[in-house]
Amino acid sequence: MPVIIASSLSKTYSPKSRHAVRALDNVSLQVQAGEIFGLLGPNGSGKTTFIKLLLGIAFPTSGSGTVLGEPLGSTDVKARIGYLPENHRYPPYLNGEQILRFFGKLTGLESRLLDRRIDEVLKQVGMEQWRKVKFRKYSKGMMQRIGLAQALLNQPEVIFLDEPTDGVDPLGRKEIRELIKHLRDRGTTVFINSHLLSEVEMISDRVAILHKGKLIREGTVESLTKDGDQWEITAHGDVHSVQMDLEARSIHFHVEKERITIIVPDLQEANHVSDLLRSRGLLIESMQQKKHSLEDFFIKVIQDEDR
Ligand SMILES: Nc1ncnc2c1ncn2[C@@H]1O[C@H](COP(=O)(O)OP(=O)(O)OP(=O)(O)O)[C@@H](O)[C@H]1O
Ligand SMILES: [Mg+2]
Repeated sequence: MPVIIASSLSKTYSPKSRHAVRALDNVSLQVQAGEIFGLLGPNGSGKTTFIKLLLGIAFPTSGSGTVLGEPLGSTDVKARIGYLPENHRYPPYLNGEQILRFFGKLTGLESRLLDRRIDEVLKQVGMEQWRKVKFRKYSKGMMQRIGLAQALLNQPEVIFLDEPTDGVDPLGRKEIRELIKHLRDRGTTVFINSHLLSEVEMISDRVAILHKGKLIREGTVESLTKDGDQWEITAHGDVHSVQMDLEARSIHFHVEKERITIIVPDLQEANHVSDLLRSRGLLIESMQQKKHSLEDFFIKVIQDEDR
């Protein structure tokens, strides 16, 4: 049974006004237990709206869904999930520990357990030495860590993270990635919104791309970036002896002094070309598969959609 099911979810803000915004348009997807799922999309594509519908904070205009088997908006399920909102602001006059105590009580955690959990989550997010410092004195990255700690308090079965590494320095981002993977390894399902593609690529089991409220791609990072893989061969020697052959076969290449770099679409073609190069006495320096990054793929699909 999938942990998250969205069936044709649509959301129009202010539907009756002239300023109606169709933020989500018929989005269907499923997230399985124990996976890290990354929802990607340009600014304003509907990522936060989607999380809000799943959490029952905003309500769909049409469509339906379930989280942990319960219909969207169910109150009981809220005790079993964690949520790090985007751009959260906690009361500036509370310190980290007080913020966590406040949210822990809202979740209904019994006070002895809560004290223990506060210690544990502060440690998990590396904020132990800042627990007595007021929120208003926190840096952006510290605010984000406390937000993450808050989302972890109740040991959620599913955790929703809206831009979890926003404003966090590179080392802190790595720590957060490790933490997210650790959660997944313990069986927690993780739903992440992000536009930091390289980061999502590093940790997500599956991703989906939203564009103007529509789901335009979905799959494992590998399956999405696999198409368009190319092979690159570099060789040196008498490059002029092969140029005409390559041109005749419409193969892309680039010459710099004695060195030639050739791009072909697949391994078979790469082997044909290397045979040709060798037969003309060129020395092959390297032959490697050029993987497309998730970022390359993302930019390409968004540009294709906009065209
Ligand atoms: N409460 C609201 N009232 C009216 N329009 C809204 C509201 N919240 C979001 N929108 C609009 O809905 C669309 C989707 O917004 P959303 O915040 O879901 O995008 P997002 O993908 O999370 O963007 P970002 O990457 O910038 O966080 C945008 O056009 C936004 O202006
Ligand atoms: Mg957002």
